Amino acid sequence: MIGRLNHVAIAVPDLTAAADQYRDMLGATVGPAQDEPDHGVTVVFIELANTKIELLYPLGENSPIQGFLDKNPSGGMHHICYEVENIIQARDHLISMGARILGTGDPKIGAHGKLVLFLHPKDFTGTLVELEQVSMRAQEI
Ligand code: CO
Repeated sequence: MIGRLNHVAIAVPDLTAAADQYRDMLGATVGPAQDEPDHGVTVVFIELANTKIELLYPLGENSPIQGFLDKNPSGGMHHICYEVENIIQARDHLISMGARILGTGDPKIGAHGKLVLFLHPKDFTGTLVELEQVSMRAQEI
């Protein structure tokens, strides 16, 4: 069911330091910081040959990653994102198999303008999993 690894998201306590490290020490192609107020994060995208890394930094009062950084003050891997062809079919299949979807259970528009949803980490070996539908834009649903 799942396709490509779309991205790995890493929550960081210092976005500039993390971006500089990926650029200067690892030689990666690092984009500019982008505020995503709807998601409560500022994001830096790092383009790799086969996937992306997203550095996440809290934005605003109720950022969904603030609690994670409180527990992991030096940062850490926050979630991984797999691509799916049809997010509704994927969701219904996963629910039928006993997995839990976070939030309302309905896909939302993610940081790339595509439909996403998150699976409960306790159902997936302690890893927060994001599914992203890449083949069709949200307004075509
Ligand atoms: Co993500």
